[in-house]
Amino acid sequence: MAAKIIDGKEISETIRRELKNRISVLKEKGITPGLGVILVGNNPASRSYVTAKERACDSIGIYSDDNRLPEDVTETDLLKKINEMNVDPKIHGILVQLPLPKHINESTVLLAIDPKKDVDGFHPINVGKMMIGEDTFFPCTPHGVLQMLLRSKIETSGKHVVVIGRSNIVGKPVANMLLQKRDGANATVTLCHTGTKSIESHTLQADILIVASGFPNTVTADMVKPGAVVIDVGVNRIEDNTKKSGYRLVGDVDYEGVSAIASAITPVPGGVGPMTITMLLYNTVLSAEIELREGSEL
Ligand code: GUN
Repeated sequence: MAAKIIDGKEISETIRRELKNRISVLKEKGITPGLGVILVGNNPASRSYVTAKERACDSIGIYSDDNRLPEDVTETDLLKKINEMNVDPKIHGILVQLPLPKHINESTVLLAIDPKKDVDGFHPINVGKMMIGEDTFFPCTPHGVLQMLLRSKIETSGKHVVVIGRSNIVGKPVANMLLQKRDGANATVTLCHTGTKSIESHTLQADILIVASGFPNTVTADMVKPGAVVIDVGVNRIEDNTKKSGYRLVGDVDYEGVSAIASAITPVPGGVGPMTITMLLYNTVLSAEIELREGSEL
């Protein structure tokens, strides 16, 4: 039987409607949530992500402050911009799009963001809070994955989740969030990576398989247990001369083959991608709400 498609666009729209209501409440109290966005350089994928994030802000009534800095900007100037945003009362969240050019130290930049405005959830303080199961800004892609599972009523408690990929942005945090003792988590988690021997021996055990390897066709049908749920986090540009752009987007999973075996699967595009942006909006609204409550520290 063909897999049920987990529609990230539809789930995103539901969450965005919920956020619009929360934004109305904030606006009645004189607060407009604001996101400060910094993009360094001209990476085409980063440019299109940032534009999509700013459009999404606009569509639900979040103010966004767009800052495009040249590829050769100094680390000092970038840190100065972040410090300005740290003290700007109109800004509740700061997003520095990654990756950064090689001459800039990513850790220094992430540390410079006020943890109270760290809507990406990348600051070590917030990573630590997530790790020990405290409330904090959860990183957007992993949070989006958990919301997709929760809102599709896919049970995670007691299930075996296998994650492929150990990035700081997706693999490590999603594994960590799913093993926490809380609703929508409480899973047994295996994290596979480039050092893992015989990946398929692990993936075949998965009730839920989360793929964030960064390579097309990392997971094929023979690697999936019949009836498993498959979440494809990958976004890869593949040359395609039939498209005006010259490329099309595919995930890390062989969608055709795996959707014939899985019970549910996320498409690319239209799966995890829209959720990432939505959870950024979510964190920005949350940050503004926390500021309104003042005193209640994250
Ligand atoms: N680059 C790829 N994904 C992300 C993300 O979620 N946030 C930021 N800031 N950069 C990214």
